[in-house]
Amino acid sequence: MRLDKYTASVSHLSRRDASGAIRRGRVAVNGAVVRSPDAAVDPDRDTVEIDGVPAVYAANVYYMLNKPAGYISSTEGSRTVLALLGEDGARRGLFPCGRLDADTEGLLLITDDGPLAHLLLSPRRHVEKEYFFECSPALTDEGIKMIEEGAVLSDFTAKPAKIAPSPDRLSGTITVTEGKYHQVKRMLARAGSEVTYLRRVRFGPLTLDPALGPGGYRPLTRGETDALKRASEKGN
Ligand code: URA
Repeated sequence: MRLDKYTASVSHLSRRDASGAIRRGRVAVNGAVVRSPDAAVDPDRDTVEIDGVPAVYAANVYYMLNKPAGYISSTEGSRTVLALLGEDGARRGLFPCGRLDADTEGLLLITDDGPLAHLLLSPRRHVEKEYFFECSPALTDEGIKMIEEGAVLSDFTAKPAKIAPSPDRLSGTITVTEGKYHQVKRMLARAGSEVTYLRRVRFGPLTLDPALGPGGYRPLTRGETDALKRASEKGN
């Protein structure tokens, strides 16, 4: 990672001010002053000091990613969601909070805040996940009722979900509070229809930013991070 970027991320300096601090000799890497903002540092191995004070790469980061199809919600392997974050994704300890199937698109929270993610994913918090889906054949009255009442799947009974089908019932939104493997696809399959497209549009208080194209990401705003922390305390 570039030294100016790293310096900014471990301090309250903007990237530009971090560059200035580096050029003025205020930043040392492994004990030696480095004056090139584009020098490479490895956050896992190198020790960086700013004004003689060791920088700790500690403040948590939170990104909203619009996951495109074809990427896996994992930290290891090829075509992971972290690869979409470029250099930002190289930060130690980053992981996707929850999983979307490789062919599912939409909102994925990427963070290094393990305790928060643990709470958000806890079934006891009932954090809502809302998806837009397309399916075939059209949902029936019975199928919709089954989803609303709690579909009985092979290994568990899903909690009652909110579903808002389109007039032709070939698409709609579904809101679940659990995060079991292939949950939405399996619920719809149980209701007699196959999901042909799935996009997460909301995770608790976070709504997918329409300005993010597929593969786009941005840091959460302070308001969004605070809302997530509140959701982790009491759900949604
Ligand atoms: N439900 C699914 O079936 N797949 C996902 O990716 C998310 C929810």
